[in-house]
Amino acid sequence: MDTRKLGNLTVSAIGMGCMGFSHGYGAIPTEEYSIEAIQAALDYGCTFLDTSEAYGPYLADTGHNEKIVGKAIQGRRKDVVLATKLFLGTDEARKNLYGALRHHLDASLDRLGTDYADLYYLHRINPEVPVEHVAEGMGRLIQDGLIRGWGLSMVNADILQRAHEVTPVSAVQNIYSMMERDYEKRVIPYCQAHNIGFVAFSPIASGYLSGKVTADTRFEGDDVRKWVPQLSRENLTANRPFLDLVSGMAERKGTTNAQISLAWMLKKYPHVVPIPGSKNKGRILENLGASQVHLTDAEFSELDTALSALTVHGRRKDMDRGTEYID
Ligand SMILES: NC(=O)c1ccc[n+]([C@@H]2O[C@H](COP(=O)([O-])OP(=O)(O)OC[C@H]3O[C@@H](n4cnc5c(N)ncnc54)[C@H](OP(=O)(O)O)[C@@H]3O)[C@@H](O)[C@H]2O)c1
Repeated sequence: MDTRKLGNLTVSAIGMGCMGFSHGYGAIPTEEYSIEAIQAALDYGCTFLDTSEAYGPYLADTGHNEKIVGKAIQGRRKDVVLATKLFLGTDEARKNLYGALRHHLDASLDRLGTDYADLYYLHRINPEVPVEHVAEGMGRLIQDGLIRGWGLSMVNADILQRAHEVTPVSAVQNIYSMMERDYEKRVIPYCQAHNIGFVAFSPIASGYLSGKVTADTRFEGDDVRKWVPQLSRENLTANRPFLDLVSGMAERKGTTNAQISLAWMLKKYPHVVPIPGSKNKGRILENLGASQVHLTDAEFSELDTALSALTVHGRRKDMDRGTEYID
C-alpha cells in the first residue's frame, strides 16, 4: 500500500481503528477472531494500528483493546506503527505531570507487549491542564525513547499551535468524513503547513456512508450509534442525498460506498490518513482496498462540489464532549 507521512512517522495510506473489537459498536467478537482480523489487515499491507487505554467493553475493562492489539502484533512489532492514547486526570497532572504520563504509558506498553509506542496521543484536552505542559512531558517521553511521536485528539487550531510550538506534534486525530468537515477550515490547513499528519476518525461517518445502516439496524449495548445524530431514524432519511451521491460514484467505479468515502479524502489531502473501524474481517479488507481506488480529478471535483452543496442533518458535535474545541 502507498505510504503517507504523519510528521516524522511513515504509515500506510489507510490505517486501522481497532476500537470496535472492544468498545463502541455493540457486541464484540471473540479475542481469537479480533486477532485474526488485525493480522489479516497487516498481511494486506496496513502498517498503522490505532488503539487507546480507554477502549474496553462499556469502558470498564481498561486496556482490553490494547491487550488484543498487543497479541496481534507479537513477532511483527517492527512492521507496525502503533498508536495509543491516554486521558490525563487533573489531580495526577497537577501532582507530577511527567510521572502521570509515564504511569499511563507504562501500563499501555505492558498491555501492548512492547517497550515503545510510535505515536502517543492525548485522547482529549483536559481544560485544567495547560497543553504546553503536556507537550513538554511528551517531549521528555520522546527523549527517553519511550515514544517516537506524539499527538492530540479533537483539538482546534489554537490549541494545536500552542502545543506544536513546545514539542512538534506528529499527528492530530479528529473526526473527519464527508459528513464532518469542520476541520477543513483551520486544523487541516495548519497541519499541512506544519508537517503534521491528520488522522481521520469515523471516516465512514460511523458506517452511515457505507449505506449498510438502515432504519431496521438495531444498536445494542454500548453502541455509540444509538446517539450519533446523523443515524437517528429521521436523519437516516434526511441524509439520503449523501448516500445517493456516494453510491452513484461507487456504481460507476465498480467499488463499494465505503471505498468511495475513503478514496475521496485520500485524493483531497496528501497528509490525511483515515482509520476506518470494523469488527468484520471482510469489511476491514474492503476498507483497506480503498487505497487502490483512484478518483480522477474530474470525479473528485464532481464529488467535492456536490458535497459542498449538501446539508448534514444531525451533527456529531452536538453529542461529542470535544465539541467545544471545534473551530
Ligand atoms: N480519537 C477519538 O476520540 C476517536 C473516537 C472514535 C473513534 N476513534 C478511532 O477511530 C477508529 C474509526 O472510527 P469509527 O469506528 O467510528 O469509524 P467508521 O469506520 O466511520 O465507523 C465504524 C462503523 O462503520 C461500520 N463499517 C466500517 N466499515 C464498513 C464497511 N466497509 N461497510 C459497512 N459498514 C462498515 C462498522 O461496522 P462493522 O464493525 O459491523 O463493520 C462500524 O459500525 C476507531 O476504531 C478508533 O480507533 C477515535
